[in-house]
This record gives sequence, structure tokens and C-alpha cells, in this order.
Amino acid sequence: MQDLEWSKLPFAYVKTNYNVRCTYKDGKWGEIEVSDSEHINIHIAATVLHYGQEAFEGMKAYRGKDEQIRLFRWDENSKRLQNSAKGIFMAQVDDDLFFEMVKKVVELNKEFVPPYGTGASLYLRPFLFGSGPKVGVQPSEEYTFVIFATPVGPYFKEGFNPVKIAVVRDSDRAAPLGTGTLKVGGNYAASLKGVERAHSEGYGAPMYLDCVEKKYIDEIGAANFFGIKNNTYITPKSTSILPSITNKSLEELAGFLGYKTERRPVEFAELGSFEEVGACGTAAVISPIGEIKDLDSGEVYNYCKNDKPGPISTKLYETLVGIQYGDVEDPFEWVTILDI
Ligand SMILES: Cc1ncc(COP(=O)(O)O)c(C=O)c1O
Repeated sequence: MQDLEWSKLPFAYVKTNYNVRCTYKDGKWGEIEVSDSEHINIHIAATVLHYGQEAFEGMKAYRGKDEQIRLFRWDENSKRLQNSAKGIFMAQVDDDLFFEMVKKVVELNKEFVPPYGTGASLYLRPFLFGSGPKVGVQPSEEYTFVIFATPVGPYFKEGFNPVKIAVVRDSDRAAPLGTGTLKVGGNYAASLKGVERAHSEGYGAPMYLDCVEKKYIDEIGAANFFGIKNNTYITPKSTSILPSITNKSLEELAGFLGYKTERRPVEFAELGSFEEVGACGTAAVISPIGEIKDLDSGEVYNYCKNDKPGPISTKLYETLVGIQYGDVEDPFEWVTILDI
């Protein structure tokens, strides 16, 4: 194994020992295969290549102080993948197969689960795609499910420090009755225009507004949005955003810690009234937002006085990360300790 500087790892791909694979053919899943190859041999007419039949997940394995390796709400990732598969007519992976493959890939790459205290974790990328040939537009009859693992550091180089977000209005990532609620590859291709625009203007990620009226906040790059005011955790309700497992957990945690919670359409015009705002997702847990700039009107909203994340975001971040690494009691039973 190469020498890795665990505490300096970026959020990027690092080769690990093995990945796990399973193929769906003739109406059923086959045996789990272990591979040390980073490549997939694929049919030139596979539906994933032409019609985008692909869905994926992003989750992590965390090493605790006690050396035990933990997963966080893996069943939610499994359910979301089933929902994504259903949404684009792919074969579904049931919870048992999902868990067995997750456990196996972590076990096979155990030495890549970063040490406790480095802030790094082992990122798991399950993905499912149509691997059978079709020339007309229709669902594949064959599917491939793969999970690879790669150790990662923070998603934003800032870590738990304020990030800058740009509002983009000249592209949409997903339509209200489209695939925005599914974690399918096509949404990410559609989001690249906004991502590139935000980056080219010096911002970390784009904020997408609802694509009908551009009146409501949808989400931020590959993360959900939340705002805090009057001791209330507020997050958008929309038919074009991905239901984030982190967001759902922060919302439940906020309620547990005595804050009020609201999930409702959030008007862009409300931005100025929030005391704290953040982007949340598996990769960064919470990225506190320090600045939001509307690239069209030039309007700027500032948060995080003296570059310090707000107190409620900090409390939620520390508690959730503490649960994930096993440092804080887990009253919700979100954590699964892997018996490996
Ligand atoms: C578009 C999008 N929104 C939100 C999220 C955050 O979801 P989660 O908290 O489940 O990682 C992700 C990442 O999975 C994403 O890709």
C-alpha cells in the first residue's frame, strides 16, 4: 500500500485493493465477484452509454477511537438507490445484497479506512447501470452493480469553514417532474454548466433555484441547503432536489436538540433574513456558507461574522460527526458497527 498522508487527503480518487461487483441477468442477481481491476469491460450498445441508465450512491465508513469501523444510515442509501433504480426502470438491489457488498468492500480495503482523528474516511461509491445492449430507447435487460472504495478528506478544501456560493440562473440541474429526486448520473451532467460557471467566477459551488419561477431555493451543487433563524432549522421542500440523508439527519438532530424545524418552499427573497446558512451532504456533512452572490443581479449576502461558522451549525456539525465516529451517543441507532 502506498504511503498516504491521511490528514491531507483531498476529496479525490485513490486506488484501493479491490472492488465488488454483481450482475443481474435473466431476471436475477448472480454471485458477488471481487475484482482488483479498476476497469469494466462493457458492451458498446449498453443502455448506460446511450440512454444514461445509471444511478449511484455516496456513503462513508468511519474508524472510531476504538478502531471499530462504522457505517452511517446505510439502509437509507440502499433505499435511495432502490428509488433511483425504480425511477429510471432499472433492476433493484435489495437491502441484503447492498449490505453484503458494502461490508465486503470495506473488509477487503480495511487498511484504507483512515485512522481516527485525521478527519478522513473511506468513501464508498455504489453504482448501478444498464449493461445490456439496446439500440432503441428502452430499459436494459441486464444490469451491473459495483461498489468501489477510496479514502477521502474534506469535500471543500475549506473543511468546516465558510464557503462561497454563486446563484446561477442560466442553467437548471433538474426539472420539477424530472429526475431531480433521484441520484442518477444525468443530473450531474446537467449540473456541470452551473458548477463550471460558479468556479469560473471564483465560487465553490452553484446555488440552483426552482426552474419554473426562479423564486425558490432548490439546492447547492451536490448538497442540500438549510437556513437557520429564530432557533429554527429550515430546509427547502421541492420536487427537483435530492432527498439528502445528511439533511434529514440534521433536521432530526435539530428537533432532538430542542430547535424547531420546517421543511417548506424557501423563497430566495428570504435569504437575507437567515442568521446562518449551510450546504449539507455526506461529503462535507455541513459546509457553512459565508457568502452567496447572485451572479445576475450582483447582490451579495454575507454570513459567518469574522469567518466563524454560526453556533447552531457548529453544534449540529459536531454532534453529527461525533455520532458518525462513535464519540457521541447515538440515540437514533443510525450507526452500524461492522463486524469485520
Ligand atoms: C444533488 C445532491 N444533493 C444533495 C446531496 C446530499 O445527500 P446526502 O446527504 O445523502 O449525501 C447529494 C449527495 O449525495 C447530491 O448529489
